[in-house]
Amino acid sequence: MNIAASSTDHPQDPSEPRAFVRTTFDLGDAVLRPWGREDAVSDAMLAELVAAAADPLIALWNPLPTNDRPAALAWLESRHAGWDSGANASFAVLDPADGVLLGGLSLRWVDRADGLAMIGYWLLPAARGRGLAARATNAVTAWAFRTSAARRIEIAHAVGNEASCRVAHRCGYLPEGTLRASHRFGDGTYHDEHLHARLSTDAEGGLPVNP
Ligand SMILES: CC(C)(COP(=O)(O)OP(=O)(O)OC[C@H]1O[C@@H](n2cnc3c(N)ncnc32)[C@H](O)[C@@H]1OP(=O)(O)O)[C@@H](O)C(=O)NCCC(=O)NCCS
Repeated sequence: MNIAASSTDHPQDPSEPRAFVRTTFDLGDAVLRPWGREDAVSDAMLAELVAAAADPLIALWNPLPTNDRPAALAWLESRHAGWDSGANASFAVLDPADGVLLGGLSLRWVDRADGLAMIGYWLLPAARGRGLAARATNAVTAWAFRTSAARRIEIAHAVGNEASCRVAHRCGYLPEGTLRASHRFGDGTYHDEHLHARLSTDAEGGLPVNP
């Protein structure tokens, strides 16, 4: 698997603010690229985001505030703002053949000064079942540790979300315990969550970045 990052992928000057710098990843069967201004003027993309919000698994475990076109536009604007401020690295996962939306992945600072970040992901049904979330998470994790001041990245998922648990394990995010009734999910109820984390000092525990 060849995972190529764009030319903006460079280690950060430690004296610079701890911003995420826009980059893209080529995973072969998928491309990760920052949500862009072009998405806001794409009827197809807006329709795909509305459809993603309606998917039952996404609506349950990773609700998207993109239920209609104005909401999708507002959400896209928040993605830009996150990149512009360096607070949030939010990627569209796209089919390289036709640009069709496959999913999304976001890395955001929880405590920027402390190097603590959190990652989340969702895939549309057609893109599931081929390990794509793990490969995307592994690529972005390696990039974040290499190019930003990320020291610790967390994944939290509802205990009942076994696919997400497997993704975390596959990417070397070690289990650290169960958070009780820690987050209200799409069904409107609070669920216990597993907390997983990876440290920049951990041995490469995930999938190989450049096998
Ligand atoms: C979580 C999600 C991104 C994983 O997508 P994916 O990359 O296609 O995952 P895969 O189907 O390749 O499965 C990953 C692993 O979970 C396992 N798995 C998948 N569905 C499972 C299920 N229902 N129960 C138990 N294990 C499951 C697979 O066997 C695989 O295991 P392996 O790594 O040991 O081979 C996808 O299911 C999704 O978008 N879910 C809805 C949104 C969501 O839950 N986001 C995460 C919020 S924390």
